[in-house]
Amino acid sequence: MIDNLGGVVRGGLLLLALVLLRRFIEWRRAAASVNNLGGFRTLFSERFIWFPFRVAGISPGVQSEENLYRKHKDFEEVGWDIMAGVSFWPNAEVTLSLADPAVIKDVIGARARFPKPMGPYKILLAFGPNLVASEGDEWKRQRKLVAPAFSELMFPTWALRWGTPLMRSFYIASNELQNYMQEMIVARRTAEVKEERHDLFSSLLDANEGFAESGEKLSDTGLLGNVFIFMVAGYETSAHTLAYSFILLALYQEEQEKFYQNIKQTLGDGRTPSYEEFSTLSYSMAVFNETLRLFPPVITIPKQSAEDTSFTTTNAAGEKRTIPVPKGTYVTVHTPGIHNNPKYWEDPDAFKPERFLKDYPRDCFLPFSGGPRGCIGRGFSETESIAVLTLLVARYRVEVRDEPQFAGESFAQRRARLLKSKLSVTL
Ligand code: HEM
Ligand SMILES: *[C@@H]1O[C@H](CO)[C@@H](O)[C@H](O)[C@H]1NC(C)=O
Repeated sequence: MIDNLGGVVRGGLLLLALVLLRRFIEWRRAAASVNNLGGFRTLFSERFIWFPFRVAGISPGVQSEENLYRKHKDFEEVGWDIMAGVSFWPNAEVTLSLADPAVIKDVIGARARFPKPMGPYKILLAFGPNLVASEGDEWKRQRKLVAPAFSELMFPTWALRWGTPLMRSFYIASNELQNYMQEMIVARRTAEVKEERHDLFSSLLDANEGFAESGEKLSDTGLLGNVFIFMVAGYETSAHTLAYSFILLALYQEEQEKFYQNIKQTLGDGRTPSYEEFSTLSYSMAVFNETLRLFPPVITIPKQSAEDTSFTTTNAAGEKRTIPVPKGTYVTVHTPGIHNNPKYWEDPDAFKPERFLKDYPRDCFLPFSGGPRGCIGRGFSETESIAVLTLLVARYRVEVRDEPQFAGESFAQRRARLLKSKLSVTL
């Protein structure tokens, strides 16, 4: 009996050892497939978003705020403008993070060669199919239908209903949101008097009706899905960028003063600018851009290689290195890395809106991604944000409130306190 038990335990351990050995060999092979390029070597993949923290050996935390602070530093440690994260679980897999403008241009410009991996986007299907969480023909259809206007959940429903208080409130909120969106659609459709509205929601409904004849209309869940995605993709990104702008302007009073003088000069008597005048507000746009450079709301843009290919990148000494990219390799644009790459940006840590009024490295500024899958809401966001920034700074001075408990802090401490960030979707 005891002998038998010992045998079973020994057998089990042997089996486990074999599984681990096999995975270890796969892991070594994965690293070798990209010529053992440096980068994170961790248990979890960075695509394992339920553990978005950086812990050495465990998780790279690429989706965490750590990257807003590390900026280009991890690339400097690796020595190249591409780094290779190799993970062990659930599979041995490689993710190449990119901070090289030429390689990024190639990747975001080629939708068929570098499609989006759909796994991480499933959570966005909560209210129906939509533009962000689709690929291939479905994406083409969605993009076409949505353009003129400018589910499974991460947890099963029973888990949400009976889960923790947070999960329950998520469940209630998402039901209410769904009902509210549905009511809005019905109300606009059945309105006796058609109001002239120019908001994004009405435009989406109108655009959709416009496609009725071709039979390509979005279904009601397709409409819901896109209304939801406009809120998620459009609301937090713009709101948080504006919040960062005001914090930066409050910290850098001399920059705020230059901005204010520029508005006074452009708009003279403090009147409200018209839409046609937006092109004259390039200083406001520069403030907005400089904020997005330092605090991009989207810090990784995931893609996957659809074929065997290769990338060539450089190090600080200007030497070249070619990295093989086998089909299936995950590839991600590392926005903080490219936005702070000292090879292309002078004094990248500084808040200097004026850098955008000169010749700046356009291929190193990608807060909205680019190419065919670039942000469809970019113009919308630029317009609303510039309106808010300009009108507020024209009328008010933004300052950091004096609070006795922070009286003795240095500028660096104050800056760190006010800009301390936590990445999450609060909506
Ligand atoms: C500061 C503001 C914004 C930033 C930084 C931003 C950034 C981005 C980025 C980086 C992508 C590409 C995502 C990826 O490839 O994984 C994207 C896509 C998208 N954005 Fe935005 N966005 C902003 C505002 C908006 C607004 C206001 C809307 C709509 C009202 C919007 C709607 C979308 C949609 C629908 C997509 C998916 C496009 C597609 O896959 O074809 N965004 N955005
Ligand atoms: C701001 O960035 C956008 C790209 O997102 C660019 O098209 C625009 O010219 C920039 N403008 C200024 C003034 O910085």
